[in-house]
Formats: sequence, structure tokens, C-alpha cells
Amino acid sequence: MTQVTELGYVTIGVSDLKAWEHFAGRILGLEVVPGESEAVRYLRMDYWHHRIKLVQDSADDVLTAGLRVAGVLEFRAMAKLLSDAGIPVRIGTTAEAEASKVLEIMFLEDPNGYPLEIFHGPLMQYHLPVHPGRRMHGAYKTAGGGFGHMMQSRTASFDDIHAFYTVLGMRGGIEYKMPIPMLPKPVELMFLHCNDRQHTFAFGGPAEKRCNHLMFETDRIEDVGLALDLVKAEGIPVIIEPGAHANDHNFSFYFKNPSGFMNEIGWGGRKPTGQSEYYAGDVFGHHPTPNSMKDFMVPA
Ligand SMILES: [Fe+2]
Repeated sequence: MTQVTELGYVTIGVSDLKAWEHFAGRILGLEVVPGESEAVRYLRMDYWHHRIKLVQDSADDVLTAGLRVAGVLEFRAMAKLLSDAGIPVRIGTTAEAEASKVLEIMFLEDPNGYPLEIFHGPLMQYHLPVHPGRRMHGAYKTAGGGFGHMMQSRTASFDDIHAFYTVLGMRGGIEYKMPIPMLPKPVELMFLHCNDRQHTFAFGGPAEKRCNHLMFETDRIEDVGLALDLVKAEGIPVIIEPGAHANDHNFSFYFKNPSGFMNEIGWGGRKPTGQSEYYAGDVFGHHPTPNSMKDFMVPA
């Protein structure tokens, strides 16, 4: 079956590139690489040319997300699948693919109006092992699951979002019905997967920004603890205290990045179970901090 295979990269528009360089290198432990101009930086966490592209932009939000397909045949099959489903798609030029460091690229929007890119053939740099911006006990887990997951706000219905991402080959559905004090109904959250990562995209409710949070997974629990120590030492707001999720089982915490949305760093995630489940709360922890929930919808 033709399907997307991983979240390959995201592009983030950031108003303060200097603050992001520091945050990415010294807090997240990513490698910061200069871009083609002073308005671009690339962030690496493995052998890929980049997993995150930072561009100078006042949006302070994720501008686009790149979903991979396996190869040229799958790329062409996906383009046909989308067209047959009535989803507008534009095949990128060679120059556009080269600018994104991939072999071929197509452009489309999801039901929320969020730009997406589907590509195959990322540029791999096996001669450039990642050089983290700070000490790391281990590395970020990217093999078999993409570079992480992203939770996004939504304006479209869950049904429309589910139908669209099903065309892309993703599976999943509502996994949380979370009771919130003072709200008449539990908050519902949708999670979609396409590989060994329990979820690649998640959708909550309406919010000012597209991106609620970006999650990276470490292969050593010590790197979650080190990140927490560094976040606290620099006075960066912790938004959600450490805890373990019921769906992906990651032990993680959430903190605010220089663009005002959240990063999550976790360890110990499980694969998709293959059958739907739902939860009314997490395994333990993940308590919102006092200064947090007014600015963010419920994360997962
Ligand atoms: Fe998450």
C-alpha cells in the first residue's frame, strides 16, 4: 500500500533566530548548521541533512511539515492517489526539490489549511555524524519512526482530518477523552501513526498556533533528565511536569521554546498497538505547571 512512512522534517518560522540557535544547541542538543543565507539555519539530529529548517519569519510557528514516501514509484502512486481523491496537489520543480534537499517533492494542504510536503529521497550525510550542541548521554531515536511527533491545533472536524490522513496511509483515531475541571465534556485528542512511532501527528482543539508541540525521543532516560536540568537552570518555563503518557508510554516533559509553543523530550515510547484504545488520563505525572494551561490546550 502506498503510504507516508515518516515525519521527515519541519520548517519553522522564527522571529528570534539567535534565541533559537541557543535553544536548539544548548538545550535540545541539536547541531546548528548555517543556511544559505543569514535568515536560515538547519538543525540536525542524525545523518539527515536536516530535520528542522529555521527561517526568519514572524509566524513563530511550524510553516510546513515534510512526510516521506519510500521511493519514486510510491511518490507517483501517492500523487495519483491524492488526485483521485480530489485533493489538490502540485508537483514541485527540480529546483524546489533541491532546495528542500530531496529528490522529488509535492505540495498540498490538509483540511485545516496547513501546508504539507510529500517527498522521497532525503539527502543523507553519512560523512557528517551529528555533532550535538551540548553533551548527550545518547542520541535521539529516529530510525524507523521519523524524527519525532507533532501535535497540531485544528479547525477541521476530526472526521475530515481522519479521512484526509487515511488517504496518506496513516492510521489511528481518538485516543484521549480527558475530563477537564470546569469543562462540560471531556477534551478529545486524535493520534495518527505511519510507522513504529506510536503517533506522528496528533490533533487537539482550536488554538492560535498550528503547532502545539514538537516531540523528540531520546534513547537514554538520562537525556530527558539532563534536558530538564538545563531547562530549569536557564529559567525556561516548564509547561507540563515529567510523567508518562498512556498512549505512547513515553516518559517526558514539556517546555516553552523561543517561539512560544512547546517542545517535548521523552524516552521509552512503545509502538502502535494495532488496535484502537482510549484513555481518560496518563500513567502518572504530566501535571500542568501553574503558569501553563492558560496558554496551551491539553497536550499529549
Ligand atoms: Fe507529545
